[in-house]
Amino acid sequence: MQIIQQHMDGDIAVLTVDNPPVNAISAQMRQELWQAVDRLDADPAVRAVLLTCAGRTFIAGADVREFGQPPVEPHLPDLVDRIERAEKPWVAAIHGSALGGGLEIAMGCRFRVAAPDAKLGLPEVNLGIIPGASGTVRTPRLIGAEAAIGLVTSGRPWRAQQALTAGLIDAVVEGDLPEGAVKFARAALSAELPLPVSVRPVAPLDAAVWDRAAAAFAGPGQQAQARAVESLRYATEHPFDSAMRNERRIFVALRDSDQAAALRHVFFAERAAPRPPELKGVTPRGVARVGIVGGGTMGAGIAVACRNAGVPVVMVERDDEAAARGVSNIRAILAGSVKRGKLTEAQMADRLAGVEASADYARLAPCDLVIEAVFEEIGVKQAVFAELARVCRADAVLATNTSYLDPRRIFEGVPGQDRCVGLHFFSPAHIMKLLEIVPTPDTAPDVLATAFALAGRLGKMPVRAGICEGFIGNRIFKRYRAEAEKLLVEGHEVQQVDAAARDFGFRMGPFEAQDLSGLDIAFLQREGLRAEGQDVPDTLSDRLVRAGRKGQKTAGGWYDYAKGDRTPRPSAAAQEVLAPHIAGAGGLSSAQIAARLVDAMADEGRKILAEGIASRASDIDLVEIHGYGFPRWTGGPMFAAARSR
Ligand code: 3HC
Ligand code: NAI
Repeated sequence: MQIIQQHMDGDIAVLTVDNPPVNAISAQMRQELWQAVDRLDADPAVRAVLLTCAGRTFIAGADVREFGQPPVEPHLPDLVDRIERAEKPWVAAIHGSALGGGLEIAMGCRFRVAAPDAKLGLPEVNLGIIPGASGTVRTPRLIGAEAAIGLVTSGRPWRAQQALTAGLIDAVVEGDLPEGAVKFARAALSAELPLPVSVRPVAPLDAAVWDRAAAAFAGPGQQAQARAVESLRYATEHPFDSAMRNERRIFVALRDSDQAAALRHVFFAERAAPRPPELKGVTPRGVARVGIVGGGTMGAGIAVACRNAGVPVVMVERDDEAAARGVSNIRAILAGSVKRGKLTEAQMADRLAGVEASADYARLAPCDLVIEAVFEEIGVKQAVFAELARVCRADAVLATNTSYLDPRRIFEGVPGQDRCVGLHFFSPAHIMKLLEIVPTPDTAPDVLATAFALAGRLGKMPVRAGICEGFIGNRIFKRYRAEAEKLLVEGHEVQQVDAAARDFGFRMGPFEAQDLSGLDIAFLQREGLRAEGQDVPDTLSDRLVRAGRKGQKTAGGWYDYAKGDRTPRPSAAAQEVLAPHIAGAGGLSSAQIAARLVDAMADEGRKILAEGIASRASDIDLVEIHGYGFPRWTGGPMFAAARSR
């Protein structure tokens, strides 16, 4: 099957690339494009060539699945070069996304035009690599070095209008793209052709600008960004051919690196998790309005997540006063976004106008899906679900945001349990990407599909989880904290364990993070289990809480804190509480400590997999990356532990 079709529009040859789903560049596509250049150069009836794509997008880049396989000719940089040297000028007509190798092919064309909603970018750094087909060499020659640094190191695509302003494209085409592009090509042919991008001059930048750019990417996990700066700098200070050889060298080294392998793993994991195969063909229920019970930390955050996605919200609280508090919680979150410049005052007003808050459960009647986020007490939650069963439509989906309780117990007594599901958001719910979706054995497939569809609308990363204490994330987190305490018992310092976790790539170590969120939350949960008669031994953190040290809120936990200062300082008082329980002399290196923490998480993950709580190891990696700050560039605990074996 040919990937590329050709037809003539007068004296313009129109090529249409069709390689679903995203026109990723395969060896066959490269071969056919190469042949097309030769063929059209030799055809006297052709004055110009229009490169268009079928389906939802322009060429979205190299085929990531081909990375790591033996390269097949023609190589992409040579193809881009061949297109640029074509005797007939090529015009790229871009719709959807022109990404990575797709944009590099477009930069080999003499002209680029795009639909108004098109996106253009070089996202290679997100995969741990740099552009490998002249992206760091042609881009500065096309739009200047400073703009090129932004485009390449951010990995974020530009919208058509921004691309036009920067000079990345020559025109935005309203209406029918191929038709408008042919018109553009005809007009362009009547004027003098611009220089090919590779021979355009590029103004050098001050060394200080390059040094600043390099310094911005000195951290771990930014290896691709750092080397992209290096390649861009070289490209602006050296001739084209030498710059291409340099880019290639860096590209190949990065492509074969651990970070790139990890980021490719995450790329495919993120595309697999939202689409469980068992839901293929299952139509989700429509959700036009979401109900939320509870306007505390989570209820307010979930409400903002819904409103940011344009979904109207009905919030129900215990009484009018609590309902008003719920609204002010929402307002406080939105005001924070306004302060940070993420939202305008008008948008904030619009978000608030879409929230109806009251103490009257009957207001939930029109809601298609209701999320309960009240206190973590089984009796309170069961009472809420009894109310929901009374007031909600029989086909409304009912969800609980419980962290630890068994959803089956929460739904007991609700008629039609096939419409019930766990939706475990993470705090702050308007920011954290992770959403654990927890079906019970009774949950209907279309209800589960509705949960996944809602996650998509809210911009969340959904991961299916089975029922056990803490589901996937909190269960692994508990094991992580226990391992961190074990390292203390073996004689390592609190700050040593935290530093090891940070060196590995966590934003915070386990102990400073507990001080920030408060040691009392997990303590109270364990006290609850003890009150039920379960044998739950005291952890070291329980001992600190019993000594009045709950974290930053009490000016001390694992560390001490000066008033108004969140800097953790080693604590003699904490040490006194811990000392009787320390049984070793430490001695592990930072890397060994981090490996212990990661191995413990992976070990728990393997149990979770064996029990069927997670569907795939890569789902566990996503839970840790999107819910717990596990460094993305290591691929998650399962991937990292498997690699280090
Ligand atoms: N290679 C292989 N498969 C790809 C791919 C790629 N570059 N990009 C997307 N796919 C696959 C996905 O895995 C998915 O497959 P599935 O249906 O079997 O699960 C399918 O295409 C659809 O992908 P999405 O669900 O992401 O589709 P969307 O419509 O939501 O998004 C997109 C489309 C914006 C193009 C998005 O897929 C995307 O951002 N892709 C990555 C683009 C990229 O990173 N390109 C650079 C590649 S590296 C490169 O070009 C190196 C060069 O410089 C030499
Ligand atoms: P919170 O204490 O901040 O808010 C709970 C709210 O529920 C309060 O505003 C309270 O007035 C309201 N409420 C209590 N009983 C009610 C009733 N019968 N009807 C209506 N409203 C009622 O608690 P938070 O932190 O928001 O937690 C809520 C749920 O979310 C819990 O199940 C918790 O385990 C879960 N969760 C919490 C996370 C967190 O980090 N705080 C993370 C993920 C889940």
